[in-house]
Amino acid sequence: MTIYLQSEIDTLKAGAKLAHMLAQPNKNSEIHLIGDLGAGKTTLARGFLESLGWKGAVKSPTYTLCEEYLLEETLVLHCDLYRLNALEDLEILDLDRATQLTKILLIEWPDRLPLQRKPDVEIHLSHQDKGRELELIVMNENLKISAAEL
Ligand SMILES: Nc1ncnc2c1ncn2[C@@H]1O[C@H](COP(=O)(O)OP(=O)(O)OP(=O)(O)O)[C@@H](O)[C@H]1O
Ligand SMILES: [Mg+2]
Repeated sequence: MTIYLQSEIDTLKAGAKLAHMLAQPNKNSEIHLIGDLGAGKTTLARGFLESLGWKGAVKSPTYTLCEEYLLEETLVLHCDLYRLNALEDLEILDLDRATQLTKILLIEWPDRLPLQRKPDVEIHLSHQDKGRELELIVMNENLKISAAEL
C-alpha cells in the first residue's frame, strides 16, 4: 500500500513516525530510502532525526557520503551513496562498525552499493502531482509495521 504526502511537512511527519516505530533500545536497524533525485529522501531522514531529539541541522550527505549523528544512546548514520564510486570509500564509511550504541542506518541510493545489503525496511518515494507517494516495504519479517501507521 502507498500513502500520499501532500507537502514537505507530511514527509517530515512520516520520517518521525518511522523513527518511533523502529527506534527501540538495543535494536539496530537499516532503512533504505529509494527514489529519484528530489523525491524527499533527505527530508524524511530529517524528520526521523529531529523526532529522535536532534536539534541541529541535517545536511544532505551528498558530498560527504555519510553524516553521523550521536544521540543519547543511538548512533544514526545518514548516507547518500549517489556519488559512491570506489570500494575504498565504502571501507572508510565503515557501515558495519561495532558500537555499544544502538545503530540506525538511513541509506539514500542503496543501489550504488557494490554488494546488496538486506535492510529491515525499504521506503520508496516518488513524485506524485505536487506531492510525493510513499511505499513502505518491510524486509525483516519480525517487524510488524505498515505505511498505514505513517
Ligand atoms: N511531500 C512533499 N511534497 C512536496 N515537496 C516535498 C515533499 N517532501 C519533500 N519535498 C521537497 O522536495 C525537495 C527535495 O527533497 P529532498 O532533498 O529530501 O530529496 P532527496 O530525495 O533527498 O533528493 P536527492 O536524491 O537529490 O538527495 C525539497 O525541497 C523538499 O522540501
Ligand atoms: Mg537527499
